Amino acid sequence: MEPTWPAEIARLQEREAQARAAGGAERLAAQRRAGKLTARERVAALLDPGSFAELGMFAEHQCRDFGMEGKKFPGDGVITGYGAIAGRAVYVYAEDATVLGGSTGRIHGTKIHNVLRQARSHGVPVIGLHDSGGARIQEGMDNVYGMTGVFRENALNSGAVPQIVGIMGTCAGGAAYSAALSDFIVQVAGTQLFVTGPALVEEVHGEKVSAEALGGAEAHRTRSGVTHLVARDDRHCLALIRELLDYLPQNYLEKPIKKISRDAADRLVPELERIVPLDPKATYDMKAVVRAIADAGEFFEIQEGFARNLVIGFVRLDGQPVGVVANNPALGGGYLDLDAADKAARFARTCDAFNIPIVTLVDAPGFLPGIAQEHGGLIRHGAKMLHAWVEASVPKVSCVLRKMYGGAIPAMGVHEIGFDQVLAWPAAEMQMVPAVPAVKILCRRELDAARDPEALLERKVAEYRELYLTPYHSASLLVVDAVIQPQDTRKRILSALRLLENKPLPTDKRSNPPL
Ligand code: HXC
Repeated sequence: MEPTWPAEIARLQEREAQARAAGGAERLAAQRRAGKLTARERVAALLDPGSFAELGMFAEHQCRDFGMEGKKFPGDGVITGYGAIAGRAVYVYAEDATVLGGSTGRIHGTKIHNVLRQARSHGVPVIGLHDSGGARIQEGMDNVYGMTGVFRENALNSGAVPQIVGIMGTCAGGAAYSAALSDFIVQVAGTQLFVTGPALVEEVHGEKVSAEALGGAEAHRTRSGVTHLVARDDRHCLALIRELLDYLPQNYLEKPIKKISRDAADRLVPELERIVPLDPKATYDMKAVVRAIADAGEFFEIQEGFARNLVIGFVRLDGQPVGVVANNPALGGGYLDLDAADKAARFARTCDAFNIPIVTLVDAPGFLPGIAQEHGGLIRHGAKMLHAWVEASVPKVSCVLRKMYGGAIPAMGVHEIGFDQVLAWPAAEMQMVPAVPAVKILCRRELDAARDPEALLERKVAEYRELYLTPYHSASLLVVDAVIQPQDTRKRILSALRLLENKPLPTDKRSNPPL
């Protein structure tokens, strides 16, 4: 028979229909019954309508063992391609749990390698939607190529283009590591993410644990810190990914998009005097401070349930995306600790990699003393913050609200650690050692010999406070650039950021390794 266009097109359509059939109608229906979108529906909901262009639709695994010859699925369990989010080009891959559990064999892995590599060479962000049982068992050591290659491309992409992943089903083994090598993880409630599942935990430790307790969203939100954002369901996850991308540029050579702001750059914030009590021991809501300063009161918080003594996230200031790192005196007194140090250091690196200025709001008594902290590696973890600040070349502005003591001084931002401008409120206390312990050390002999040691201590503490603790002392030594009224905080931070707008972008990429 002579070939005809209608026949060729019908053949293509038939092949496309086979690929769209994924793991079969029954498995797709079961996925929908479980309240989930299918992999194709996820891609469609993530991207601007009609923008998806598929690549690798007819790729198939080449495995012949363990009954695999009879189990061919066009696309091999992962949908790959590109499209647009709010008009911006993105690459995307979405694993399909209806095909061999979304497991990653050689071809499945190669499809992801291709997308990741192209994203890097084209300077385009990449979104991965994970739903995978990890390395495909039937493909044995071929997984070294498939899966390790994904890790390699993820690591090479680090700091070159934004990598955001959604955890949309149970992700085990290698699938979990690929996610952790990206910049941001958004996990859907009810999914699990772990390296080894409950069965292996029981085998090794004789300990029974449910999949949810081991790797559920709540565990990663509050305890491991693996998950940056938790979504209610699939659609919420995709909406969060779109929103997050809004704060990020296409690649390390660009700045994030500045939007037109309806919130005046010189807006005064008198309510800050009400939000922040003068008593350094009284608590308050640091997020209320962030929202008061931000454009339209909007704060896109990240890792909100982990190391809650430190708050991080994105705001816009006069339309420009800015990363905020702020101590939270409402929790643990605002002390820095192991987890807070990791959280701050990684976020600083993420902002630096993608040319996002950083503002720190400081109210910290220092690093948390204690055996558990020291033996947990406080020195090693705390040092990550110092290293991140020195390496970060984006504009950095710090503002000390109430206190900045000891290790918090370098860890939260002064000139010598690479900050461009240091502001302080008029009642801010800043010093190596707070007044009482300092006086007890310096005046031990005098206090021991005094007839009324309490009165002497009180007098000496007052003297020390006046001499050493005020921001005017720090300003006299040029540690602080300006002492400002709380109500001027937004105005002064914005004036500093405007000044720093043309700080040269580095020409080489800065890696954003998992910390
Ligand atoms: C091949 C897999 C698979 C895998 C699931 N399937 N995981 N096939 N390789 N890794 C298949 C199942 O056989 C089943 O096929 C179908 O997918 C659905 O799986 P179920 O178990 O029925 O689904 P569910 O109950 O939802 O459980 C999902 C799961 C579980 C929690 C992910 O399948 C699971 O524990 N899988 C193994 C996870 C694992 O140990 N991965 C580690 C691999 S090692 P049928 O045809 O029966 O429906 C690794 C290290 C990487 O990743 C190192 C890099 C080199």
